[in-house]
Order: sequence, then structure tokens, then C-alpha cells
Amino acid sequence: MNSLRRFMQSRCLFHMSKVRTSGSGINNQKRLFSKTRSCRTIMPAWVIDKYGSNDVLRFTKNVSFPVIDYPNEVIVKVFAAGLNPLDVSMRGGYGAATLSMKRDPLNIKQSNSEFPLILGRDVSGVIMECGLDVKYFRERDEVWAAIPPWKQGSLAEFVVLSANEISHKPKSLSHTEAAAIPYVATTAWSALVNTGGLNKDNCAKKRILILGGSGGVGTFAIQMLKAWGAHVTVTCSQNAEQFVRDVGADHVVDYTVGPVEEPLRALEKFDLILDNVGGDTERWALTLLKPWSGAKYVTLVTPFLQNTDRLGIADGMVQTAATMATKALKHLVSGVHYRWGFFAPSGPALDEIREMVDAGQIRPVVEESFSFSQVPQALEKVEKGHARGKTVVQISKGGDGL
Ligand SMILES: NC(=O)c1ccc[n+]([C@@H]2O[C@H](COP(=O)([O-])OP(=O)(O)OC[C@H]3O[C@@H](n4cnc5c(N)ncnc54)[C@H](OP(=O)(O)O)[C@@H]3O)[C@@H](O)[C@H]2O)c1
Repeated sequence: MNSLRRFMQSRCLFHMSKVRTSGSGINNQKRLFSKTRSCRTIMPAWVIDKYGSNDVLRFTKNVSFPVIDYPNEVIVKVFAAGLNPLDVSMRGGYGAATLSMKRDPLNIKQSNSEFPLILGRDVSGVIMECGLDVKYFRERDEVWAAIPPWKQGSLAEFVVLSANEISHKPKSLSHTEAAAIPYVATTAWSALVNTGGLNKDNCAKKRILILGGSGGVGTFAIQMLKAWGAHVTVTCSQNAEQFVRDVGADHVVDYTVGPVEEPLRALEKFDLILDNVGGDTERWALTLLKPWSGAKYVTLVTPFLQNTDRLGIADGMVQTAATMATKALKHLVSGVHYRWGFFAPSGPALDEIREMVDAGQIRPVVEESFSFSQVPQALEKVEKGHARGKTVVQISKGGDGL
């Protein structure tokens, strides 16, 4: 399915001209939606106009309607938006230097500002319009996606995305359930599959340790690894033990009762460690890996964006590369691999995840869903942490009432 998708999905990255997507004469298809951008120039959204705490959030009905700039893009009507700890960090300015550069690499935008900025990294909704080169999707397709942090987010009525970033939504899930999965799933997929080298055919009997397994990424990673036959050990607080067992963890270690490395050292060594906690864990975690066997430590907590925020893009990148190389080399001589994992938007990965969801191997864990008017409360909930599931905001009603 993925090769078919890649074949059909053209990637016109250098096509800089604007694409006409509405109006007559482009194709003979009857337009199914009455509210295209040809008749709407604004939409409702929650925005921030500066970085800060929750009081920078502002609801407006007058945000510019998203525009298809590249022929492989689509406009999605947002039915549900998922929130992540990253939204809280971005609200406070985390990653601003790198993300601003990514949004406008040549510094040609007249406004010279990322504001008004729309948060929200998960979306489940319906395609409203397709660019001319989009072949794999059609208008009215139900889709889900993880939105890259340099793009406008899903706390809005519409969002524009590349067709490479979206995927057909699992049929077995509602939009609210679907919006709980893409960002944590594509992050876990990128860390475990792309960086960690795991896949459904090489996981059987592998011993995996997830540090911080009760959060969004951990909960998804446990389910994916169990579906692939791995043995999964998890660290979390005691009150999350039943929760992580319910999603499949084989062995659970409480990190709140004392130094967590001590009970972990008593266990058989691991083939891979996924670290969602960072900080002090790097001091001891790599000694828990099987040496000289290709075992890997993959951490999602990296200093990359902090370095570029603090030192600027050039110096921050140099500092980051030096730190990465030093650590990788230091651990290589002990026979284990040290790696950094990053979120990577990927429609093809979501295609595979959809199949696992529809097969009943992965279930969404929604802790609470909020209405569009309750976005500040929803973000506050994420900020408090220790949630046992994702926080989702319902933006529009599903069905045909568009
Ligand atoms: N590099 C990237 O591109 C990228 C992308 C996404 C996420 N991340 C990072 O990945 C991490 C996980 O993300 P997430 O969305 O899963 O966050 P999350 O939902 O906030 O989950 C984090 C979990 O870690 C647990 N925890 C906190 N301190 C712990 C400790 N000392 N030992 C064990 N568990 C501990 C908490 O569990 P309890 O409630 O049980 O205490 C919490 O549920 C975050 O640090 C995030 O910044 C990085």
C-alpha cells in the first residue's frame, strides 16, 4: 500500500507558484462543498499573538483562511484537535528560533513574525479541497494527521497540510478518538522504527524498556511494541501502574519510591530503551543495555531546540552536533548505541498505524474532550501533566453538516 501511495503521491517541492484549486474549467468534478476559499476569507481559531502563559490565548473569528500554496497540499476541515505537552511549550516560546526559520527560511515574509500563531498538533477531519497534484486523496475523504510544529495548527476550523503528511482516518474510530493518536504515534514510530530500527518482523522476544511509559508517547509505544511481539518494561508512577498494564506493559517499575535504576539493574538487560524522561536518566540507562549486540538507547528529550533558542541557529546547531557526536562516541566504546529521536510527520507511517488500529491492536486513550470554546481549559489540563490519556478538543461537528 505504501509503495502505491508513494507512486501516486507526487512531491512538487519546488513549485513556487500559487495553485488555483477552485473555479470552473480545472476539472469536471462537481464541487461538493459550498464553503470553499473562493467565498470565505476568514475562519474562527484560537491564536496567540505573543509567547506566555495561558492568558495569551485569544479566540477570533477573523483568522485568514488557509491557502493551498503547493499542488500537493490539501485543506482539511478540522473536526477534532489533539493537544500535547509541545503545545504548552510552544505557547511559551519553546523552539521559536528554529521553527521561525523553518517557516520562512529565506526571511522573505513582510510581516517578519510568526504571529498570530495557531497551536494544536493533531487533527482528524475531512478534506475540503485538494491541490492539483493530489491523487491519493479526494474531497470528502476522512483523514488524520500530525501537524509539523512549523505549520499552523488544528485549533482552527481549517488547516492546510501536505498530502504526504495525511492519511485516511481509521474507520473504527470517531474523530475525537482519532485526534488522540497522530502526534504521539508518529513520534514513537520515528523513534522506534526510523531511529531504533525496530519493525513488526524483528521485535519478537526483544526486551524493550520505556522510561516514562504512562504519557502519550509511552502509551502508544507500549501498544505498538506489544502488537509486534516484544517484551515491554515500563517506568511510571505507582498510580499509573494499572493504566500501563491495561495497554499491555509486561513489567512495571515505580519511579517514585526511590532510585529507579536499582530495581531495573536487577532485570535481564534490554535490546532497546526509549527514554521519554531525559535529564539524569542518561547517567545510568545505557548500562542497562546488552553490550556489543546492537542495542540502542533512543531519547526523545534532546537539547536541540533549547540550544537554538539560547545560542541562535548557527551556534545552536554547532553546539548540538558536538554534544550528539561526543555522547554517541562515548557510548560506542562501551558497545551500545546512543541516539536522539525526533517527531517526523508521515502519512505513510499513519497508514500502517491505521491498519493496527482497525485490527484492534492499538486503541486511543482519550482522557477528556473539550469544546472549541474551552481551549484554555484544555491547554491548562495538558500543562498540569500526569494525564492518563490525551486531551482532545472538538472543533466542528462530524457528518455532512459542513
Ligand atoms: N524529540 C521530539 O521530537 C519529541 C516529540 C514528542 C515528545 N517529545 C518528548 O517526549 C517526552 C514524552 O512526551 P509525552 O507526550 O509522552 O509526554 P507526557 O504525556 O507528558 O508523558 C510524560 C510522562 O512521563 C512520566 N514521568 C515524569 N517523570 C518521570 C520519571 N522520572 N520517570 C518515569 N516517568 C516519568 C509521567 O508519568 P507519571 O504521570 O506516571 O508520573 C508522564 O505521564 C516529553 O519529554 C516530550 O517533550 C519529544
